[in-house]
Amino acid sequence: MRRRSPRKAAPTWLVGQKVRLRPIEPDDVEMLQRWINTSPAREFIFRRLPVSFEQERDWAANAAVNPNTPGYVIQTLAGADVGTISLHIEGARATLGIAIYEQRYWARGLGTDAVRVLVDAAFRTRPLVRIELTVLPDNARAIACYERAGFAREGVMRRWLWRDGEYCDVVLMSIVHDDWAATRTPLAKRR
Ligand SMILES: CC(C)(COP(=O)(O)OP(=O)(O)OC[C@H]1O[C@@H](n2cnc3c(N)ncnc32)[C@H](O)[C@@H]1OP(=O)(O)O)[C@@H](O)C(=O)NCCC(=O)NCCS
Repeated sequence: MRRRSPRKAAPTWLVGQKVRLRPIEPDDVEMLQRWINTSPAREFIFRRLPVSFEQERDWAANAAVNPNTPGYVIQTLAGADVGTISLHIEGARATLGIAIYEQRYWARGLGTDAVRVLVDAAFRTRPLVRIELTVLPDNARAIACYERAGFAREGVMRRWLWRDGEYCDVVLMSIVHDDWAATRTPLAKRR
């Protein structure tokens, strides 16, 4: 894990109670490739094949510049890079993906905060009606994290994912704009 990110957040970074979301930079590709190929988080994410430097560079470049696939490095307030969070926006809907790749940072509330911060920014800045995600049914930590961040379970999509030689069920979860609007803090009260 690197600790070379600036400790002081730039004005454009998204800042929560426990994490900051900073833009992905070209220098991050080596770290991102190591994370996705070697982190224990691999057990829970859907991508299983090894990722090349070029593939990771393309993903990072796309996440950095494409307004419909925004992606960020999750960083603790102390400046440690710990994972990534991203959205895939299609029209009024978006799909969220998150992984904290540095395992020692699991279960400290960082994931919940990162999801809240990105969902809040997304609903404020884009005309989205719904943000959804899929998660493995036995990933209890992730499901608890998403529920704390305001997502609701919609159901199980049966035999949705080919994984380790068999089709697996996944849980579909979402937060809709109305859910978010009912709980959000008006900008004026945040200062
Ligand atoms: C999923 C992930 C983003 C969650 O972030 P996190 O910072 O670890 O989660 P949080 O600490 O914010 O919340 C975790 C919740 O699960 C609970 N939890 C922790 N460990 C748990 C476990 N082993 N089993 C069940 N629940 C657990 C925590 O108590 C907490 O709930 P609470 O706040 O109601 O007490 C992170 O753990 C991660 O990246 N894991 C590996 C990759 C992954 O699973 N990605 C998601 C794929 S859909």
